[in-house]
Amino acid sequence: PDVETFNCRQALEQLSSNIFELLRTAGTVGDELNQNVYVVGGFVRDLMLKTDNWDIDFVTEGDGIVFAKALHQAVGGKLTVHPQFETAVIRLSSHITLDVVTARREYYEYPAALPKVEKSNIWSDLFRRDFTINCMAICLNQSSFGDMSDYFGGMKDLQNKSIRVLYNLSFIEDPTRIFRAIRFAARLGFHLEVSTRQFLQQALQNDMIRRLSHDRIREEFLHMIREQESFHHSMTLMKELGVFQALHSGFIVQSHTLERLKGIRFAMEGFRQLSPSSFNQTVVMLMQIMSEVPPAYLEEVCQILVANQTLIQQMMKSMNQRDTIYHILKEDEVDRFTIYQLLRPHTEEALMFFYNDSDDPYIRHYIAFYLLKLRHIQLTISGNDLKSLGINPGPIYRRILDNVLKAKVLGTIYDHDGELKYAENLYNRLKEAPHA
Ligand code: CTP
Repeated sequence: PDVETFNCRQALEQLSSNIFELLRTAGTVGDELNQNVYVVGGFVRDLMLKTDNWDIDFVTEGDGIVFAKALHQAVGGKLTVHPQFETAVIRLSSHITLDVVTARREYYEYPAALPKVEKSNIWSDLFRRDFTINCMAICLNQSSFGDMSDYFGGMKDLQNKSIRVLYNLSFIEDPTRIFRAIRFAARLGFHLEVSTRQFLQQALQNDMIRRLSHDRIREEFLHMIREQESFHHSMTLMKELGVFQALHSGFIVQSHTLERLKGIRFAMEGFRQLSPSSFNQTVVMLMQIMSEVPPAYLEEVCQILVANQTLIQQMMKSMNQRDTIYHILKEDEVDRFTIYQLLRPHTEEALMFFYNDSDDPYIRHYIAFYLLKLRHIQLTISGNDLKSLGINPGPIYRRILDNVLKAKVLGTIYDHDGELKYAENLYNRLKEAPHA
């Protein structure tokens, strides 16, 4: 946006009519309650960038819950109030959410704590926030509808593509802002303003990031992963600024990983189109990010990024077997059954990770072949069929079925009749030479 010519009211009028009407209504409701009402934060930033944003944050000077209840009466949706925080949420539709907060001042009893809050005015409410570009407010009350409050130079920073904190201790007080700064810089293609970068690095040097709970780190990390378009960029900034190492000294991310993250979405999309499946993309990305963590630290790093313990064990098992798998699949002639047995114990996510991670064309070829073809091979016969053939139940069943499967994977047989015949022949041979 051009600071000189930006016309806030005009920009509001150019929004879709339902959003514009909603803002108008919010102003009228504020007037009726004798409260000042502002739309703030990401919505204002994105209005100036001409980007849609359906999460609308309102700040009221006065009781936010009273305002939210009245707005809810006027616009409908589903209202949830949080009296202890003096905030409320109105979910208008699946994609439009209205957040209401009572203007407040925040203070931190100790670094990285959750903030204590007390009622205040719009200036203090904006001052408690993260970056100047997220600290602008637009008044909605009728008499000043469209008036912009930009106390901290947010517009100018938007124009200069700059991420800037409001005060030196911002990252110390709320270290999640380290991740947010990176996420916004990557998403918007902005740079970290020089002193902001220094404050961020000081916070890292002071180990502030380790004061965050794993849950909060995970949440921030997932935010970055979800922003798929800029994910590679945000991970590059994380490495450049030393955030991985600050999270855990064994969290090594080198250029191989960054290189591999570039094509990961493309690879996953390719598989999804060729073979419908429901693998979890986030897990694949996490495995790729941790691909250079030395085995001795892998579990500790996993514990930071993943909450589900079963998933952690699964991921570790596959990551620890990666070198063996690559070693076997590196050869130019590996038989189908070897591939099948080798890859069968691994989840689709792990296979996708191996595929994306490896540089070797043979390895990639075999994994793709397994994912698209071999893994779908299943037996159509079972113990009951063996019974019908007159074979007495016992350990021999496993032996026969395993061999039939092997023949099917190798392509010697391919249908139900073939399986039955193969089983019968094998049984007859085993009867004659049981230890063969
Ligand atoms: N905020 C903050 N510090 C945080 C989290 C949020 O100051 N650690 C403030 C920012 O002013 C932000 C607003 O709260 O604009 C809303 O937060 P959120 O919805 O997370 O951010 P958005 O700016 O709306 O970003 P997005 O586009 O990702 O939704």
